[in-house]
Amino acid sequence: MDKREIVVSGIRSTGVLHLGNYFGAMRNYLRMQDDFTCFFFIADWHALTTHPDTKELSASVHRVLAEYLASGLDPAKVTLYAQSEIPEIAELYLLLNMLAYKGELEKTASFKDKGRQHPENINAGLLTYPVLMASDIMVHRAVKVPVGKDQEQHLEMTRNFAQRFNHRYGVDVFPEPYAFNFGENLLKVPSLDGAGKMSKSENQMATLYLNDEDDMIRKKVMKAKTDGGPTEPHSAKPDYIENLFQLMRLVSAPDTVRVFEEAFDQANIRYGDMKKQLGEDMVRFISPIREKARDLEKNKEYLHRVMEEGTQKARASAAATLSEVKKAMHLNYR
Ligand code: ADP
Ligand code: TRP
Repeated sequence: MDKREIVVSGIRSTGVLHLGNYFGAMRNYLRMQDDFTCFFFIADWHALTTHPDTKELSASVHRVLAEYLASGLDPAKVTLYAQSEIPEIAELYLLLNMLAYKGELEKTASFKDKGRQHPENINAGLLTYPVLMASDIMVHRAVKVPVGKDQEQHLEMTRNFAQRFNHRYGVDVFPEPYAFNFGENLLKVPSLDGAGKMSKSENQMATLYLNDEDDMIRKKVMKAKTDGGPTEPHSAKPDYIENLFQLMRLVSAPDTVRVFEEAFDQANIRYGDMKKQLGEDMVRFISPIREKARDLEKNKEYLHRVMEEGTQKARASAAATLSEVKKAMHLNYR
C-alpha cells in the first residue's frame, strides 16, 4: 500500500493557462510528483459556474491537459483526469452540501467577487463552489493542496467541512487538508499593469499566457507600467515596480536580478533595459512550453489515453472513500 501523503489540485478549464497558474499552482505540482501520491485534474464542472457556454469546453479541457503535460507532469507518476469523469465527486458534493451553511457560503470572497462580475448569473453552483472544491479534495482524502494565495479561504472551508463530517458521523474519515507551496508563502503573480493579479479573463494585455507568441510576450512586457525611476538612492519601490522585480525573480537568472536591484538602489536604473531583459527571459521560459503544448494538443489519441488511465485510478481512489463515507453515514441498506 502506498503510504505517501496524498495531494490534490485542479485548474478550471476556462481558457489558456497563464504565468499565474504556472507559478501559483503548476510549479508546485512538478516539484511534488516524485514524492507524493498526486491527483491533478481539470475542473470542468467548476468552469460551468461562470462559463455556461459549453461549445469550447472540450477544446479547453484538452488544452489544459496538454499544458499540464507540456510543463512536465508525467502521467506515469501522477493521476490526471477531468473532474466530470468522476461521478463520486458529485455524490460527495451532494452529501457535503447538507453540512454547508448558506451564511458561510454567501460570505465567501470568491462568491462575492464572481457575483459582482456576473450579476446576471448568480447561480446555486456558484454559491456552493467551495463545497464542490472540498469534494474534489476530500474524495481522495488529500492532505496537501498546491494552490495560489487566492484559494486559501476555500481550503479553510474544506477543513471545516471535513471536521464537521467527522464530528457529525463520529468517524475520522477525512484528514484536514492544507494549501501548500514549497518554501515561502503562497504566491500571487502580479499583473503587468500594476493592478491585481494575472488571471485568465481580466485584462489580457496585462497577463502572460503560456501560448503567447514571442513578439506578443515582448510587447506585453514592454507595455508594463513604470515611471521616471527613483530620484535618490535607497528609495522604496512603488508596487508596480516591485511587481516587475517579482516577475523577474521568477524567470531570470539571480545575477541578472541583482544587477537591476543594484541599479534601482543607486537610482540609475533604466526601466527600458530592464523590460527588454525581462521580455527575453520570459520568451525563453514560455516558448518551449507553448510549442510542446501545441504538439500535444494535436495528438488527441495520446490525450485520450492519458485521461482514460487517470480516470480509472481516480475512480478507484474515490470509490474507496465513498464506501467509507456511506458506512459512516449508515447509508447501507442491503
Ligand atoms: P484563473 O484565476 O486565472 O481563472 P484558476 O482559478 O483556474 O485560474 O486558478 C488555477 C490555479 O492557479 C489556482 O491554484 C490559483 O490559485 C492559481 N492562480 C491563478 N492566478 C494566479 C496568480 N496570478 N498568482 C498565483 N496563482 C494563481
Ligand atoms: N477553485 C480553484 C481555482 O479557482 C480550482 C479548483 C477546483 C481546485 N477544485 C480544486 C484547486 C481542488 C485545488 C483543489 O483555482
